[in-house]
Amino acid sequence: MSNLEQTLSIIKPDAVERNLIEEIKNEFKKNNFVILKEKKIKIEKHEAEKFYQVHQSKPFYNDLCSYLSSGPIVVMILERENAISENRKLMGATDPSKAEEGTIRKKYGVSIDKNSVHGSDSQENAKIEIDFFFKD
Ligand code: CMP
Repeated sequence: MSNLEQTLSIIKPDAVERNLIEEIKNEFKKNNFVILKEKKIKIEKHEAEKFYQVHQSKPFYNDLCSYLSSGPIVVMILERENAISENRKLMGATDPSKAEEGTIRKKYGVSIDKNSVHGSDSQENAKIEIDFFFKD
């Protein structure tokens, strides 16, 4: 049975800064994701705090929010069959040093903070995250 899904993807400041936008977009396209919408933006820290509010009790929350708001990012709606789980597979483990060969974080990530990409982790969060950036 078909399960066409949409997920939110972010190319994080470390990857934008290293001019990896096109390379990372190509990784998605090669893996049958369609980029339905995309925009390059810079967000304020209070917006990052709202986006990452599920992590607010974590010790890394403050640094995480400072980081996401430290420079331009690219936010995208990606669509394909099982987009949420397929994107997480393609990104690889959160910590690039633990990510499998061939994954985006293994190829481009530099550390657990500067791990180049974010992807929604569930259908519920995909909807919330897509609305966060693309609700007109
Ligand atoms: P992301 O998928 O964007 O979701 C939350 C982010 O927190 C995660 O990627 C990491 O970049 C960052 N982070 C920093 N420290 C940790 C940690 N110890 N465990 C999990 N995520 C972390």
